[in-house]
Amino acid sequence: MPGSSGLPISLRDTFNARKGSARRQLVNAQLNVDVIRNIVFILFLLRWTRKLFYQLKGRGIVGSAVDLYTYTRRVLYGIFLRLPGVRTKVQTQVAESILKLERRLVPSGPGVQRTTRLPAEGWTTEQVQKALNDLEGMDHTRWEDGRVSGAVYHGGEDLLKLQTEAFGKFTVSNPIHPDVFPGVRKMEAEVVAMVLSLFNAPEGGVGVSTSGGTESILMACLSARNKAYQERGVTEPEMILPETAHTAFRKAGEYFKIKIHLVACKAPQYKVHLPSVARLVNPNTVLLVGSAPNFPHGIIDDISGLSRIAHKKKIPLHVDCCLGSFLVPLLAKAGFESEPFDFRLKGVTSISCDTHKYGFAPKGNSTVLYRSDDFRKYQYFISPDWPGGVYASPSMAGSRPGALIAGCWASLVKQGENGYIDACHKIVGTMKKIETAIREMPELCSDLKVIGRPLVSVVAFQSHTLDIYDIADGMSEKGWHLNALQSPPAIHIAVTLPIVAAVDQLIADLVEVTEEVKERERKRIAEGKGAKGAVKGDTAALYGVAGSLPNKSVVVDLAKGFLDTLYKV
Ligand SMILES: *Cc1c(COP(=O)(O)O)cnc(C)c1O
Ligand SMILES: *[C@@H]1O[C@H](CO)[C@@H](O)[C@H](O)[C@H]1NC(C)=O
Ligand SMILES: *[C@@H]1O[C@H](CO)[C@@H](O)[C@H](O)[C@H]1NC(C)=O
Repeated sequence: MPGSSGLPISLRDTFNARKGSARRQLVNAQLNVDVIRNIVFILFLLRWTRKLFYQLKGRGIVGSAVDLYTYTRRVLYGIFLRLPGVRTKVQTQVAESILKLERRLVPSGPGVQRTTRLPAEGWTTEQVQKALNDLEGMDHTRWEDGRVSGAVYHGGEDLLKLQTEAFGKFTVSNPIHPDVFPGVRKMEAEVVAMVLSLFNAPEGGVGVSTSGGTESILMACLSARNKAYQERGVTEPEMILPETAHTAFRKAGEYFKIKIHLVACKAPQYKVHLPSVARLVNPNTVLLVGSAPNFPHGIIDDISGLSRIAHKKKIPLHVDCCLGSFLVPLLAKAGFESEPFDFRLKGVTSISCDTHKYGFAPKGNSTVLYRSDDFRKYQYFISPDWPGGVYASPSMAGSRPGALIAGCWASLVKQGENGYIDACHKIVGTMKKIETAIREMPELCSDLKVIGRPLVSVVAFQSHTLDIYDIADGMSEKGWHLNALQSPPAIHIAVTLPIVAAVDQLIADLVEVTEEVKERERKRIAEGKGAKGAVKGDTAALYGVAGSLPNKSVVVDLAKGFLDTLYKV
């Protein structure tokens, strides 16, 4: 056959050709590797150039230099803290402070009865009741007498009784089973609807109820992150916060791996600096944040301005009204000055509102609201193929206490708009009374200075002449628990209903303490003692030192010790 002899030849040819092509392929491959390497390198370069560009755009050259300086100082101080001699000294001091704390928080001594295992035989009802009474009566800062700033958002005795009744009816209920507890489902939906209407949600506005402000904020951040990932492919999410925004946003950053940019809130307004926010926006930005009002100073950020930026750049904007809750929406109706903050601003896409703050609902209740389902759907968790069945939950928790929902619903409908307006009158009126005292009383105004122009329930003040933490400690000695703030050093008072009744005493004590601190200072200077000669209370000791540390790892250790202490019997 003519072709039979051709077979080996063609094979050889093929072989040769293969060899040639293999060589060529090798060369090609090498070329390809080079090309790929170059591409990878260029991409890498682009990525870093891009990062550098957005860093410089966002923080400017001076800002970036300051960032670098702060970071370097932190690292160097960190190394200093780890030097052998220093480390042991710091560790001993931290341990001492924690021990001191423990002695104060954890009861000790022979008389203290501890229950660290299940009683082999259950206690009698009377025994439990007696123990509960004793626990309730443990020595504490008297919130009942209005001695505590914030913390207890009490709506009055009648409301408390009603809440307890509501608990009793729904103790076993769990909204995860809406068919078993239809009443709980209905109440929960109604709570969200009532809050939506309070914040002027547009047609299509939706929401979810949660266990507290922190969960509401976590959910809003999660939804923003997921939305940006799904719709824009953002894999390195960032959000822009006023430095005064509640720290729950930083928690969200840590939990959900969202990079945080903090924007200064400078004097005299102490509102977030809008041009800095605008500069920090880049394609990775998933959320802007404003507070109405913020926790430290009780100041409402320029939400209209933030809304304009958000709308123009098409980025979600979350307004934290956790603290403002049922006060901010009613300021105008109660006859006080107000500022725009809610869904009527078209850039606002989500709002957190704590029913358990000035809504006077039992602790453990809050809501997060969204402009539309287009935002809410991204916070849902749905697991379609779990062996336990198709599972869906709206927020962090699985099972949830229906009793709290009943308590929340009962509070809202019992108070009604008039009840909340009335409370707003009392609370904001009291804040203004304290503010006026600090601004105008001759005994106070020369040493204390109100921070910004508070409009809601919190008034913060600092001092340029005295150590403000000495004043906080002085107030503690008189049985008050005010909140110490840092950067800048200050104290705040968050007015609640129990404080309304105690405000005159509060102002009188503040005058007295300021005088005392001033007198002590005068004496110390007259005796020629330096700042070191001063005897410091707890707050002054903690914040006085913490404020000057470039690296706060010591504070972190102390705080960890504090958390551990909470679980010591
Ligand atoms: C209280 C508060 C929150 C949330 O706090 P929770 O303790 O989790 O309810 C958020 N933002 C501000 C401004 C707050 O004051
Ligand atoms: C701060 O100090 C601690 C302890 O020395 C160290 O582990 C940490 O890395 C330091 N922080 C920075 C940013 O270097
Ligand atoms: C009340 O609190 C529970 C748990 O803290 C939460 O699951 C529920 O959604 C809240 N309900 C309302 C109406 O706020």
